[in-house]
Amino acid sequence: MTDQPAPTLPELIDMQIRTTGPMSVATYMGLCLTHPTKGYYKGADPLGAAGDFITAPEISQMFGELIGFFIVTLWQQMGSPREFTLLELGPGRGTLMADVLRVACRAEGFRDGLDLCLFETNAALIVEQNARLEAYGARWIDGFDKVGPGPLLVVANEFFDALPIRQFVRAEDGWHERMVGTNNGRRVFGLNPTPIPASAMPQTLAEAEINAVLEVGLASGEVMNRLATTVSTQGGAILAIDYGYARTQTGETLQGVRRHQYADVLDAPGEVDISAHVDFEALGTVASRAGLAVEPLATQSQFLTRMGINERTSALIAANAGMAEELSAAKARLIGPDQMGNLFKVFCAASPGLQPPGFA
Ligand SMILES: C[S@@+](CC[C@H](N)C(=O)[O-])C[C@H]1O[C@@H](n2cnc3c(N)ncnc32)[C@H](O)[C@@H]1O
Repeated sequence: MTDQPAPTLPELIDMQIRTTGPMSVATYMGLCLTHPTKGYYKGADPLGAAGDFITAPEISQMFGELIGFFIVTLWQQMGSPREFTLLELGPGRGTLMADVLRVACRAEGFRDGLDLCLFETNAALIVEQNARLEAYGARWIDGFDKVGPGPLLVVANEFFDALPIRQFVRAEDGWHERMVGTNNGRRVFGLNPTPIPASAMPQTLAEAEINAVLEVGLASGEVMNRLATTVSTQGGAILAIDYGYARTQTGETLQGVRRHQYADVLDAPGEVDISAHVDFEALGTVASRAGLAVEPLATQSQFLTRMGINERTSALIAANAGMAEELSAAKARLIGPDQMGNLFKVFCAASPGLQPPGFA
């Protein structure tokens, strides 16, 4: 008997399509990103110049430091609780949290009461997170029921965009779910032939034009629901930064990125980062139903400016004159309107009565 090589992820996906028929975009995205052994987020560290993309905390320490001020301000507003959980979703290399804690732990009592929880799927990144955050007693959780009983502060940068979305396309006879199937051996998009009942679609989209695409993030809603329900009973806040939109809208945002270039999402499953813009209105609805107060969505530029990025840049330049150009370039990248400043949005849902800084 000869040893057969294990099937690749593209082979597994194509085999599943041949066996059970086309799969939803959400199933496809979930397999591509988090298949237990071959998913994109199960492989090597995808961040940085040698990887596929770069994120705000990797651009400058100022990003995490200003979020550190945000966190410590809320912690103080809550009466500086002696026991609380700080949870980061998808912490990447641990850079954001290390910058947050360098600032926040200057507040007396913060470090003593800190229960640092990390929610992460990637083993290579967990090693990097451990290297940066072990000293703070970080623990990794695989479910949100594992957070401590005290107030809960949650931070997520570019996490929700990595969760699977379903897509629905408007046709003459109503909305149909978009599926991934195969044609002549190639992966292709198609539509589920059965239309979705109009009553199941948002009323605001009743007049949507033919071929309009609606994206629905059920997994994001589920994560938000679990966390908002916990924050609602234990106190705290959720801060999420991502590219996304303020009002539920039609439009296709599913995208693939590989080696810092756009890539076809249907090619090379498991090797391409797939993401979609976040529907912040939908997340806000979930959070407010759970009893939280939702701040008006801010752009990354507005939030970081209100949190003091200009002053922080000047202070760092004053202390490191030789780095003036680098620091100014990093600030421009984070808040420039044609860079990350307007594309990225900052969402906050908090216990009623708290006044999260950085919002209008
Ligand atoms: C785009 S990266 C952002 C990393 C980091 N927050 C940053 O800003 O640099 C997405 C992060 O979410 C993690 N992730 C993606 N899908 C996940 C899932 N389903 N469960 C847990 N972590 C996930 C990835 O491994 C990675 O750490």
